[in-house]
Amino acid sequence: MGGPSGWPALISLLLVVAILFFCSAISIDEARTQLLMREKMLQLGGQLVLTEQEELANERLMALKKAEVVQAMKIQNFPPSIHFFQAKNLIEKSEVFSILKKMPKGAALHVHDFGILSMNWLVKNVTYRPHCHFCITPKGALKFKFAYPTPPTPMPAECSEWVLLEKYRKEMQNVTEFDYGLLRNFTLMTENPEVDYANQNIVWSKFQSIFFTISGLVHYAPVFRDYIFQALEEFYQDNVLYLELRAMLLPVYELNGTIHNQEWSVRTYREVAYMFAKKHPGFIGIKLIYSDRRLKNVSFIMKSVQTAMMLRATFPRMVAGFDLVGREDTGHTLYDYRKALMIPILQGIKLPYFFHAGETDWQGTSIDRNLLDALILNSTRIGHGFALTKHPAVWADSWKKNIPMEVCPISNQVLKLVSDLRNHPAAVLMATGYPMVVSSDDPAVFGAKGLSYDFYEAFMGIGGMAADLRTLKQLAMNSIKFSTLLDTEKKAAMKTWEERWTKFVADLARRPKESE
Ligand SMILES: *[C@@H]1O[C@H](CO)[C@@H](O)[C@H](O)[C@H]1NC(C)=O
Ligand SMILES: *[C@@H]1O[C@H](CO)[C@@H](O)[C@H](O)[C@H]1NC(C)=O
Ligand SMILES: *[C@@H]1O[C@H](CO)[C@@H](O)[C@H](O)[C@H]1NC(C)=O
Ligand SMILES: *[C@@H]1O[C@H](CO)[C@@H](O)[C@H](O)[C@H]1NC(C)=O
Ligand SMILES: *[C@@H]1O[C@H](CO)[C@@H](O)[C@H](O)[C@H]1NC(C)=O
Ligand SMILES: *[C@@H]1O[C@H](CO)[C@@H](O)[C@H](O)[C@H]1NC(C)=O
Ligand SMILES: [Zn+2]
Repeated sequence: MGGPSGWPALISLLLVVAILFFCSAISIDEARTQLLMREKMLQLGGQLVLTEQEELANERLMALKKAEVVQAMKIQNFPPSIHFFQAKNLIEKSEVFSILKKMPKGAALHVHDFGILSMNWLVKNVTYRPHCHFCITPKGALKFKFAYPTPPTPMPAECSEWVLLEKYRKEMQNVTEFDYGLLRNFTLMTENPEVDYANQNIVWSKFQSIFFTISGLVHYAPVFRDYIFQALEEFYQDNVLYLELRAMLLPVYELNGTIHNQEWSVRTYREVAYMFAKKHPGFIGIKLIYSDRRLKNVSFIMKSVQTAMMLRATFPRMVAGFDLVGREDTGHTLYDYRKALMIPILQGIKLPYFFHAGETDWQGTSIDRNLLDALILNSTRIGHGFALTKHPAVWADSWKKNIPMEVCPISNQVLKLVSDLRNHPAAVLMATGYPMVVSSDDPAVFGAKGLSYDFYEAFMGIGGMAADLRTLKQLAMNSIKFSTLLDTEKKAAMKTWEERWTKFVADLARRPKESE
């Protein structure tokens, strides 16, 4: 007390100002912290409580992630924001990517029968097998066929004469160059994707021509078997233990012209997966989602729904359900097919659906409404669901019914739905904790492999700095949770995954700290 008069007033005034300042500072920080905490809890994996070991691993992972993001901001070159074909080399240099490769990712729930094994294997192994012929269609597409002796020349409107590849290679100047040309026919990869694929029509046209071209290779019975085995190997190497394949089950042929039916194909998938599991500890297996093209008319799809019911009755543990594949923007809508898709329920038979829906940028069109019908038809999961955030009612209801989205980032970018993956709509789903899994669609066609590249895009680009080890753990667990494995199988799968996860986390936690 005391002092010159006037001082106490000044001091108390200063005090008030200081307190006001301090308090408002506190309240800003508190409010921010609260908002951040709330959002952290909301986001995918936000509810998970990490073990001490996981916290350590998370610190290591996030330090690396931060360093990569900071560097990318500085040089304005962030792989998820550039086209995958140009980003691939950069991604392969990333430490985060090398960790994601080692991470046990659980299951691949959205992949297609012949887009899952590196195309180089088709070039280097399959086209070098004896009796491999090719011809060229009037439109310039390659077509292959194994046969002995050489089959008669097709109609000119269909294809050129059949050329024996073995003989053709012998007379060739530069086989390396030829093989490289084949590889370019088998993938979408190019140096200038923006120039070569100026719009969605162009990229889809080449995408479809690739499946046309490789069809004669992969449907040759000996190749068919090896393809499945090698593909499982590639996913296993990428730490994926279980796959659900969208499979069209087109006819498989032998050298002497014998053609196998769909039951044969399902049995072969089962046999090969069983053999593979015997040789690969921890591998869980595969299931098939029988799929037909959305180009076909309703009467055709009525038949394939019936085929799906028949196959599921014959192979209840192998055939999980039904889907429609192909480009949504130009194909029939689910609503067009309603008569076909209602057959099972009207007959009192359960046929689970796994529809591709909302793989479009055209909001409010009949195609975009596929999401509504996928929900109404009780789709077990939704393929892509790219347009989901534009449909708040569908979004709310599918969340209530716990219908996960199968997000395939690289596919969406290459097929030109979104160019900068930071702007992928799944960013919203991730931030709100909507149930989702990450998958790779047709990695081999996009020049990717397994699931790791898509996990990288989801973790770095879609999730941004908010995504951490919790996000990754939730995505991996979701892939088992939302699979069609039986409850007992799920328990076993989760146990196998947990063992691997614990080891992965321990290795990551032991990494030396980055110097910052
Ligand atoms: C192709 O791979 C199989 C194993 O899947 C192997 O037995 C065969 O010798 C290979 N063929 C060629 C031509 O490389
Ligand atoms: C064959 O083609 C490749 C790729 O175009 C080229 O690198 C190589 O030098 C060529 N080899 C010969 C012998 O011309
Ligand atoms: C596809 O293969 C044919 C025949 O080898 C070749 O002439 C053509 O250049 C290839 N296409 C591409 C895009 O490389
Ligand atoms: C054709 O080849 C397959 C596989 O080698 C064989 O199982 C089948 O008996 C053959 N069929 C005929 C008619 O020769
Ligand atoms: C469906 O398509 C097939 C072949 O394209 C054709 O034979 C059939 O008549 C079509 N059915 C209807 C109802 O249009
Ligand atoms: C979808 O599920 C609901 C609720 O279980 C049921 O009432 C409806 O009939 C199902 N619809 C189809 C097409 O399966
Ligand atoms: Zn797909």
